[in-house]
Amino acid sequence: MRLFTAFNFPQHVRARWIAETAALRAVAESARWVGPEQMHLTVTFMGEQPETVVEPLTVALDEIARGYAPQALEIGGVGAFPSWRRARVLWLGVKPTPSLMALAAEVGQAGTRLGGTTEERPFRPHITLARLDGRASTLRGLERAAQTIGDSTVAYVSSIDLMASSVVRGRARHDVLYRAQLSREGGAPGATGTATRHTI
Ligand code: 2AM
Repeated sequence: MRLFTAFNFPQHVRARWIAETAALRAVAESARWVGPEQMHLTVTFMGEQPETVVEPLTVALDEIARGYAPQALEIGGVGAFPSWRRARVLWLGVKPTPSLMALAAEVGQAGTRLGGTTEERPFRPHITLARLDGRASTLRGLERAAQTIGDSTVAYVSSIDLMASSVVRGRARHDVLYRAQLSREGGAPGATGTATRHTI
């Protein structure tokens, strides 16, 4: 199974992102836009893994998550990977706070220890909005439209989620396998992860 860890956001937050980025959609209708049900912030990507990794991973995630309070993430600004000129991925930016970066580093180390892929690129927190075909005229339009997108907003997350991605009848599907609660003071006392399996 293909595993990754992510922050997931409430439906009303994802709906707001869709509304706020309408101007981008209007100039690149043929791009592969991520629907609201799939919008998330990937923390680490582990790649193809045997199912036996899931249990030790949930233990490691719980241990790490106990050391972090729920996070207030500042989300805003539209950018492109690898650059606007050669854009392949269009994203909504997430402010790389020290706490978020430290959490991602710890989760990455645990994933590597348990056999996941080792990410050599630095972690640049983002929420993918679309995957692009690289047509220059579209990219210029998107870059212009990106300047018109409004201010940052804050979104709260209180768990880091272990996710499985699969392709079902040609469509990407993401399942939450486990939620590890960020439970350092301020979080619910004694909160631990909850086993879940539902499609978001
Ligand atoms: P993204 O976060 O930029 O959208 C599931 O495939 C998730 O893992 C996606 O959200 C995807 O990108 C992220 N991801 C990170 N590295 C990946 C890789 N090497 N291959 C596929 N997906 C990757």
